[in-house]
Amino acid sequence: MAAPELPGPELPGPELPGPELPGPELPAPDEPRVHVAVDDLHVRYSAPDAAPRTGRSRLRRGVDAALGRGPSVVVRALVGVSLVARAGDAVGIVGLNGSGKSTLLRAVAGLERPARGTVLASSTPVLLGVNAAMIPDLTGRENVRLGCLAMGMTPEATAAALGDVVDLSGIGAAIDLPMRTYSSGMGARLKFAIAAASEPEILLVDEALATGDAAFRERSRERMDRLRAGAGCVFLVSHAAQTVEETCTRAIWLHQGRVVLDGPAVEVAQRYRWFAWNLAQGEDAVAERLLEEAFRAGVEIVVDLDGAAGVPGGRGVRGVRHARRQR
Ligand SMILES: Nc1ncnc2c1ncn2[C@@H]1O[C@H](COP(=O)(O)OP(=O)(O)OP(=O)(O)O)[C@@H](O)[C@H]1O
Ligand SMILES: [Mg+2]
Repeated sequence: MAAPELPGPELPGPELPGPELPGPELPAPDEPRVHVAVDDLHVRYSAPDAAPRTGRSRLRRGVDAALGRGPSVVVRALVGVSLVARAGDAVGIVGLNGSGKSTLLRAVAGLERPARGTVLASSTPVLLGVNAAMIPDLTGRENVRLGCLAMGMTPEATAAALGDVVDLSGIGAAIDLPMRTYSSGMGARLKFAIAAASEPEILLVDEALATGDAAFRERSRERMDRLRAGAGCVFLVSHAAQTVEETCTRAIWLHQGRVVLDGPAVEVAQRYRWFAWNLAQGEDAVAERLLEEAFRAGVEIVVDLDGAAGVPGGRGVRGVRHARRQR
């Protein structure tokens, strides 16, 4: 891929040398290393058409019926998303329902095949999803063991981590009860504790913290800080903009599969919260204006994978260069 053209005014990102990124704003060369690079990512789903058009040809209807499938539509869940996450980043993802947050995490985890674009990761990300597989008839403790082994930890490391996982989850004596007896908050806390146990370089968390109480949120924030201090990076999807403000260094606001803003967590979360609040009040015109303003205030992330040694979804993001430019 050719190096991107970057017309001014520019806010050059790290590591982009050469004449296309002039000026005094070039960052220090010792920028933390890139863990995740996403370039122009498009993900589409095929979904049943809720309102099939009557205009479909008889032939098409016949073919669909013969193949046992109903009318379907293409859902563009992500539309040209680019981002870079470096060691030490805790990236919050905010956005309305259906804006593409979970899809983005799944794509970073290598669980969605992009229709277009590239995802590179420095190591296998650990995705903690709302539906992370837990076996309801097994106890919390047994699920911890299975979860740790499933993430590739050795039996010894699993045994050593057990106490720590139980402490972090705050489940207490209920750890020896079947998981089907847990509230959704207890289950989510245990999932988070399991995912953090392997101390992954890239931890992807989808909503798990939302159901936790204040004490758990504090413990999980400390754990994320520890991962980041160990040069890891964390992505956190949350509807609670406040959690993102408290927990993350940076935030990305997604809307209809596009990046509206990518910047400091507090600024992005507050702008998103104000937008969502207006929408909830029925102030659609105000919300629309806030969305447009945020989009215009945002910068476009340009990722150059030219120098990257790696394969899509695989290892090796060394050599990735990225820059930001005003929209
Ligand atoms: N498996 C799927 N099949 C079809 N469409 C899907 C599928 N998963 C997601 N979508 C659609 O893709 C879009 C993005 O969904 P996604 O789950 O990423 O949103 P989200 O931001 O995580 O939403 P929420 O806040 O509700 O969790 C939505 O329009 C959704 O309906
Ligand atoms: Mg989701």
